[in-house]
Amino acid sequence: MTGDRGAAPVETRALREVCGRYPTGVAVVTCRGADGEGPVGVTVNSFTSVSLDPALVLFCMHRDSRALTAVEKAGAFAVNILAADQAALCRAFARRDTADFGGLPHGAGATGSPVLGDALAFLDCRLHTTFPGGDHTIVVGEVVDLGLLREEQPLTYFRSGHPRLEVLG
Ligand SMILES: Cc1cc2nc3c(=O)[nH]c(=O)nc-3n(C[C@H](O)[C@H](O)[C@H](O)COP(=O)(O)O)c2cc1C
Repeated sequence: MTGDRGAAPVETRALREVCGRYPTGVAVVTCRGADGEGPVGVTVNSFTSVSLDPALVLFCMHRDSRALTAVEKAGAFAVNILAADQAALCRAFARRDTADFGGLPHGAGATGSPVLGDALAFLDCRLHTTFPGGDHTIVVGEVVDLGLLREEQPLTYFRSGHPRLEVLG
């Protein structure tokens, strides 16, 4: 692979490989279900903060995602930042048949979105804007409530694994 590829299209596999060298945290985005349906959650690592004033954050979601449809319907979502001991939750919410909230401690945030009790921290958001982003949609939320829930290491994501953080210095 060279730096100068000219106009050749980028291969999906190469894009995944290179982007996978960028370590991230992991969050579960949750929202209320439609009438008569249970709450929805989906694992994301595309979460990032956008603006401090106003307080805006974003995540990117595949356009075919059921969770995206649910967030757009609900008009709100919560970002639940996972702790290092929540790798199983990360996997459960990465399945297409959304994980069952039944046994999970959770409560309703200010927007009515489920907040996972065992997460490291949460941001409860009103849906602010969506932008098209190729095969994904960029979802921007305005933070209306937030909190720190636990003092734990975060769950990391790097090259498809969850390495432990070593805090230097
Ligand atoms: C660590 C991790 C991070 C992920 N991040 C994203 C993401 O940022 N955006 C996305 O669209 N899918 C992401 N996924 C994949 C979704 O969690 C997965 O496709 C899920 O099945 C989508 O569910 P839905 O189609 O039922 O909404 C991630 C998966 C894992 C394991």
